[in-house]
Amino acid sequence: MTPGTSTPYTGGFTPVTEEITAFDLEVTGRIPAELDGRYLRNGPNPLSLDDAGAGHLFLGAGMVHGVRLRDGRAEWYRNRWVRNAAVSERLGEQPRPGPVHEGMDFAANTHVIGLAGRTFATVEAGALPYELGYELDTIGSCDFGGGLPGGYAAHTHLDPATGELHAIAYFFGWDHHQHIVIDPGGNVTRVARIPVPDAPMAHDFALTERYVVIYDLPVTFSMTHAEQGHRLPYAWNDAHAARIGLVSRESGDVRWVEVEPCWVFHTLNAYDDGDEVVVDVVRYPKRFVDARLDLGGLPTLDRWTINPATGKVRQTRLDDRAQEFPRMDERRTGRPYRYGYTAATRDVYEVIHPKDAELEDLPDETFDNTLIKHDLLRGTQESRQFGRGAYVGEPVFVGSGAAEDDGYVLCYVNNAARGAADLVILSAQDFTGEPVATVHLPARVPLGFHGSWIAG
Ligand SMILES: [Fe+2]
Repeated sequence: MTPGTSTPYTGGFTPVTEEITAFDLEVTGRIPAELDGRYLRNGPNPLSLDDAGAGHLFLGAGMVHGVRLRDGRAEWYRNRWVRNAAVSERLGEQPRPGPVHEGMDFAANTHVIGLAGRTFATVEAGALPYELGYELDTIGSCDFGGGLPGGYAAHTHLDPATGELHAIAYFFGWDHHQHIVIDPGGNVTRVARIPVPDAPMAHDFALTERYVVIYDLPVTFSMTHAEQGHRLPYAWNDAHAARIGLVSRESGDVRWVEVEPCWVFHTLNAYDDGDEVVVDVVRYPKRFVDARLDLGGLPTLDRWTINPATGKVRQTRLDDRAQEFPRMDERRTGRPYRYGYTAATRDVYEVIHPKDAELEDLPDETFDNTLIKHDLLRGTQESRQFGRGAYVGEPVFVGSGAAEDDGYVLCYVNNAARGAADLVILSAQDFTGEPVATVHLPARVPLGFHGSWIAG
């Protein structure tokens, strides 16, 4: 939290108070005609700072911001709250129908994905996804026709060869995680239980051609915190070993290997390399301390190279700058790859690591409101700075040509001069050049979490 305040919803995370619909947006540059679809992004946006979820960044009601691109035009911008029962009630609307797992009805705030021609806002820790309409209205919660036996996951990974969507679901009431596979038609085709002690938090995972890679790290459900009324009752647990689970996609067998205690929210990518498995993550060095979300240190882009036969793990640093929200060309999910994209945004670290002195030591040009393109083959980076107050969010790559970086990087960037956001479209091969197009939105888009380009 920002020091001296009781809410993390300040600065770039300040919520918006209105839902807006705007058509035919003003554009600087030229929107590539091949970009036909919607760029959507989810994030926490409490209805007011008095709301129950307003005390924690992970608990604010989800709001999805979307821009529809077609024929070189930005047809519309919409932002809509995800309407669970509580949000519907606050807005004076009828609740949407749908299943609820164990009373966990949450206005999914973490990610928004396309699946089987449908749109879903997703969240983890026991709640189901909410299905949204094409124009972001809430249809209702969804368990895929009864296919999900519990909640779902915020992060998913699509196997580009099979079209199957993989997820790892966790819940404090379970003695296992669930590995869930959904086919391209939206049918749940696999739910496998992976026994895990202590009910750890598992925000993301990784996929290779051979394995589902689970991060079993020492942040576990805390009854003490639950009894104290923390709404995110997870805490660092020294008694819980830090390990990575390689779940064979063929047999379901799990090979666990120990790693140095740390915390990971996000995967950049992973792949099989001969007998070894390479896993690239944004990694926090120390400890994640309870619901205050003080991670005790700034995150870096690191690589684990795992030998399943020997159990040995080699840990190397790909970039020592603080950064988050890693994305890549998802046509290469689980495969060897060369390029990654991340964001370095001061407001994110002010929430997760509110120690001013350490933040002030970090030079703006390498740290604040910067998008980074990583060339992992050469070990080099290109940095693109957006300046003060830009509140740069997650960079989403959209492939165009066959080459891995032949495509665009889309990102909401706050335009401080206008007091409103732009959708910036960069050429991934001209990362530091002029944007291909800048779509001028009519309102602010607060910093949030994750999003997707959903074609068509
Ligand atoms: Fe995430």
